[in-house]
Amino acid sequence: MADVTFTSPAMPKDVTVYAVAGDTRTLLSVAKEHKVPIHFECENGECGSCACEVSVLSDKAPLAVHLTEKEKTVLRLAGKITPDQVRAAEVSDLPPPYRLACQFIVRDEDIVVKF
Ligand code: FES
Repeated sequence: MADVTFTSPAMPKDVTVYAVAGDTRTLLSVAKEHKVPIHFECENGECGSCACEVSVLSDKAPLAVHLTEKEKTVLRLAGKITPDQVRAAEVSDLPPPYRLACQFIVRDEDIVVKF
């Protein structure tokens, strides 16, 4: 089980939901299930409208660092991540500050999602 906390000025208060361990749904799918109003358009990693700031709340190494090629390109073009942050994710498994909710797979780790 992992706690996923959504926080946004678009919501009256933060919402924390539980993602089941072993579940391989996207962050956007979890948000939609719980009626969290993350903006989205394409749901295919192409428009960048679902970009969210994701923080891992754990001392352990982050589990869900993998960025798809689409995600790297869209986040870079949107100015949400730098080439150095892409390299850090690829080489050192350091999580970038922003992810696309429609591409990010929720893993068994507690996260805070700002949008
Ligand atoms: Fe378009 Fe996620 S909804 S990139």
